[in-house]
Amino acid sequence: MSDEEGLVLERVSEGRSEFVHSYNVNCSINKTSKCSGCLSTQRFLMFSSDIDVMQRAIRIARTGVGLVEPNPMVGAVIVDAERNLIAEGYHQKFGEAHAEINAIRLAGKATRSADLFVTLEPCSHFGKTPPCAEAVIAAGFRRVVVGCQDPAPHGAGQGIERIRNAGILVEVGVCEVDARRLIAPFETLMIKQRPWVHAKWAMTLDGRVATSTRHSQWISCEQSRAWVHQLRGRVDAVITGAGTVRADDPLLTARPAGLRTALRVVIDSTGESVTADRKLVKTISQGAVLVCVSRRCTEASRSRMRELGVQVFETNSEDAVDLGEVLQELGRRRCTNVMLEAGPCLLGAFFERELIDEVHAFVAPKLIGGAMALSPVGGEGLPAIPSTANLSAFRVQPCGDDFLLEADVCRGLSQAETRITEQHGI
Ligand SMILES: NC(=O)c1ccc[n+]([C@@H]2O[C@H](COP(=O)([O-])OP(=O)(O)OC[C@H]3O[C@@H](n4cnc5c(N)ncnc54)[C@H](OP(=O)(O)O)[C@@H]3O)[C@@H](O)[C@H]2O)c1
Ligand SMILES: [Zn+2]
Repeated sequence: MSDEEGLVLERVSEGRSEFVHSYNVNCSINKTSKCSGCLSTQRFLMFSSDIDVMQRAIRIARTGVGLVEPNPMVGAVIVDAERNLIAEGYHQKFGEAHAEINAIRLAGKATRSADLFVTLEPCSHFGKTPPCAEAVIAAGFRRVVVGCQDPAPHGAGQGIERIRNAGILVEVGVCEVDARRLIAPFETLMIKQRPWVHAKWAMTLDGRVATSTRHSQWISCEQSRAWVHQLRGRVDAVITGAGTVRADDPLLTARPAGLRTALRVVIDSTGESVTADRKLVKTISQGAVLVCVSRRCTEASRSRMRELGVQVFETNSEDAVDLGEVLQELGRRRCTNVMLEAGPCLLGAFFERELIDEVHAFVAPKLIGGAMALSPVGGEGLPAIPSTANLSAFRVQPCGDDFLLEADVCRGLSQAETRITEQHGI
């Protein structure tokens, strides 16, 4: 890897170079010097601002995606007074050490009078691990810079207060919007008791997800489909509707398998689309299937599905399946991220109930045409064009022959964003 595209961080000890981590570096200046002990090349990172350091912490935190949930992704960077990198760490796996602890362990005695940057307020309670706030105090930092506060109503501010009371300078809110976005699925699960919903679809350049005859395989290219399999491999559930089960008989598994095995969820009021010959049922040993039904589902249909090895969840509604109840059930199962891979009917219903958090749309260089061909999001739709953008964090990237367009769905500004907007007079 060249210095232009990234940097390999090495720790040199007793003449031996120990690989620690590799990064893509675009916001920090790096310099190369000789290690006086062994004369091998040692590379340092030097950051030019607090924002650069926090952005680095955010970037390394993302390495934990798919492994830390239902915990939040967290990153920590320790620098000296000139903002030279001393050590860094991230939360690597659910149940294991938190980011600050990994960084503190790597830094050793060098934490004395150093600055700790951490994307999320250090915890102040005993969970699976002891409180990080205590370890931060014991490490003797000069300053602690926090990206955002703990979103838990009972925990917010307590870790910060504890560290401040110990006489350490604490600054809160550096890169707050990005730090908060990093933990959005965790925050959604904690506050709304439901998972973060990723809606994914593949459409032609004229905005169609299937022909008028409901043919849709395949709109996107192989590379795009491989990307979808990667996302399936890091979410806790993949949700589809009875219409898609009937039209496409999907498997909904990640191929190759990812970090997690997603629960395969079918929204079908009667459960009648889920029959013994469906691929979902035939592959039950590769991943559980949950069919969410309404009261329209008969007792006979429920027992038929249970005999097939399928789990059944009945929502308290007479007609269509209650989607809010489905998400609450997935929240109870500690699902943090779920992917909606459905047709226009279900996507429209989620959109109308404001239950879509993030969109991943593949646009393929194909045209289908036809007034009856399906477009991605059905239902009534909005009566007028929104006066301001109702998507944020819009991202575009090529993906094989296609383009992948991604964005977060915004419903008004979050508290943090409102405060930041006010501060900047925007
Ligand atoms: N290009 C892509 O990315 C993509 C992805 C997926 C699907 N598709 C295409 O989309 C087409 C299927 O679309 P679709 O709209 O018919 O199927 P869908 O959205 O997958 O499923 C809709 C069905 O779900 C059931 N349902 C139960 N409760 C519901 C609720 N609260 N809200 C909405 N639906 C509820 C209804 O059937 P019951 O009344 O029987 O319960 C409804 O007809 C197929 O042609 C498929 O190939 C394309
Ligand atoms: Zn902690």
